[in-house]
Amino acid sequence: MIALLPGGLQLAYDEAGSGTPLLLVHGWPHDRTMWAGQVAGLATYARVIAPDLRGVGESAVTGPYTIDQYADDLVAFLDSLGIASAVVCGLSMGGYIAFSMLRRHRDHIRALVLADTRATADTDEMRANRARLIDLIERDGTAALAARQIEPMLGRSTRERQPLLVETVRRMMASVSPEGAIGALRAMAARPDSTPLLGTIDMPTLVVGGAEDGITPPEVLRSMADSIPKSRIEILEQGGHLCPLERPAAFNHVVSEFLGTLLYD
Ligand code: MLT
Repeated sequence: MIALLPGGLQLAYDEAGSGTPLLLVHGWPHDRTMWAGQVAGLATYARVIAPDLRGVGESAVTGPYTIDQYADDLVAFLDSLGIASAVVCGLSMGGYIAFSMLRRHRDHIRALVLADTRATADTDEMRANRARLIDLIERDGTAALAARQIEPMLGRSTRERQPLLVETVRRMMASVSPEGAIGALRAMAARPDSTPLLGTIDMPTLVVGGAEDGITPPEVLRSMADSIPKSRIEILEQGGHLCPLERPAAFNHVVSEFLGTLLYD
């Protein structure tokens, strides 16, 4: 489906189920297809909505690309669907966007799922790495980016045992437009530190990630969860940075339990 937002931006999305809206925000360099297992598997528990951010998938490839702009797009998107507030589930860059929604549009967030993400801003070393990735994309395109990123994106168990999934993820990353991939890299490099925000999060929050995630390892998730007053944490064995794709049943189980707790909140 396609949503037409004020100003003319078109965002593609998938939707299934009914009840509490659950907004799934993908990471980088991903698109909404990374949530296929959640759109199918969580529709019994929620109205599951998975958009492509601007610049990727079937959404319009047009700037500006900033974390705040992605957040504003998502709020306009929710408005276009008549949704006043949603459980916002962001994976990695999707989590950075969720932090921006907290800063700018807190009343649109009913509860939070922070998956394989971090609150801190980039270090100088991370920014230098992003600059190298931009050079790579400009020189060799997103197929080369996908070849470079496949190993850190997935856990060791997935890489060893799930060759079909490895290929699916590689293809997803290779299909992202160079403009969208570069725009997101610059947006992430410029994002602020969200650590001071953690203690102010006054809504139920689930922090979840893969035990084999080398990009946002379990200790990063634990220290983030420790700083969020109403949080719980779940670490999924044999999951990597893309644990919703790698361990869909386990991921859906912890999210559906979390959605259940909202009935009593
Ligand atoms: C992601 O999965 O969204 C990225 O790994 C996040 C990042 O590069 O900081």
